Amino acid sequence: MSTVVLIGTQWGDEGKGKITDFLAERADMIVRYQGGNNAGHTVVVEDKVYKLHLIPSGILYQDKTCIIGSGVVIDPAVLIKELKSLEDRGISTANLKISQRAHVILPYHHLLDQAEEKSKGNKKIGTTIRGIGPTYMDKSARVGIRMIDLIDQTEFEYLLKENVRVKNSMLTRVYNSEGVNYQAVLEPYRSYAEILKKYVADVSIIVNRVIEKGGNILFEGAQGTLLDLDHGTYPYVTSSNPTSGAACIGAGVGPTKIDRVIGVAKAYTTRVGEGPFPTELNDEVGAYIQNQGGEFGTTTGRPRRCGWFDGVIGRYAVRINGLNYLAITKLDVLSGLEKVKICTGYRYRDDIIEEFPASLKLLSECVPVYEELPGWQEDITSAEKLEDLPVNARKYLDRVSEVAGAPVAIIGVGSKRAQTIVTAEI
Ligand code: IMP
Ligand code: MG
Repeated sequence: MSTVVLIGTQWGDEGKGKITDFLAERADMIVRYQGGNNAGHTVVVEDKVYKLHLIPSGILYQDKTCIIGSGVVIDPAVLIKELKSLEDRGISTANLKISQRAHVILPYHHLLDQAEEKSKGNKKIGTTIRGIGPTYMDKSARVGIRMIDLIDQTEFEYLLKENVRVKNSMLTRVYNSEGVNYQAVLEPYRSYAEILKKYVADVSIIVNRVIEKGGNILFEGAQGTLLDLDHGTYPYVTSSNPTSGAACIGAGVGPTKIDRVIGVAKAYTTRVGEGPFPTELNDEVGAYIQNQGGEFGTTTGRPRRCGWFDGVIGRYAVRINGLNYLAITKLDVLSGLEKVKICTGYRYRDDIIEEFPASLKLLSECVPVYEELPGWQEDITSAEKLEDLPVNARKYLDRVSEVAGAPVAIIGVGSKRAQTIVTAEI
């Protein structure tokens, strides 16, 4: 396996948690490199359901090292809650390491996220309101507070005081909302620092040491390609880079150290939050997929918008991320449909567009060009190998792979760890 980057090829929620968990078995180390608790992973192991937001799903294997890299933003209260809930269920978190350089989410980031969304009115992004965007803004503005600063009492007090002064002025004067109280932030954050300091380390050293020894590492992306700050449907994106290149930056390794990139795609498409979505289905098929797939957010509980597989997006994700393989999840959700469709291009006025456009104005006028394939009625949730799948399901996968331009290495046919078919050597 060596070093593998696993990313989402759509708008997040592709089922990366399950594939990460599956691949983690062969890894010595699992690394999260961007995003924060806007992400949500559901992992099912022997009928036990784990919902993780910040901690890599690899934590469920007790012998693996789990890393939260510098590219991640950390809400300490959420992290501590997650640590506690794992410990309460008998899962040790002793093998978790958190980057000294990861930025910390503070209460004013939540308030700013909320205030910015409110002020945008019907142009709102539909963020998770977890303070993610404002925390990355502070990082870029060079006023953020990192884990290394959080655990240094004097440094933290100084940085917090400065930030509270500026943020309160923004919150009250620009957004006409309430500010935060310095002391009321300082005290809980001091206790968070006490709890978390034992996990804080220079993780780039730890990761590179494993690479030097020839160990297997899985870099686990959060969100998806179309939520990428550079390559996604801007401005309806998250504030980090969920694409594969960010694995290097957010973990502190060089590009020469990455062996393979795998992109996870649902057998259909979903999106939460606002923004254009060409293959969206506002009909009974969309409702069927939403129900069968349980398409409600792990983090916010919001219903996800559902639609057909978009091959234009698939091709785009293959190019932007340099994908070697696709992992197709939730194929079982499409069982029972008479016909299934794959979008192969977009019709824009009199033209056919084959590459994903930068202009949202243009994208919102795009009408999908569909290829229709016969569906399958069989229950495929106990299929163990490719040959166990109905011929129509296999034909569907073949077309998805051809249209996107990458071979399929993994197929998910249910939410459990065992409901996974492997079709290539990874
Ligand atoms: P933010 O990341 O909270 O700033 O939200 C920005 C956009 O990204 C919104 O449309 C969110 O719904 C979306 N988003 C953020 N994280 C996830 C995720 O893990 N899955 C799906 N959508 C996400
Ligand atoms: Mg999710």
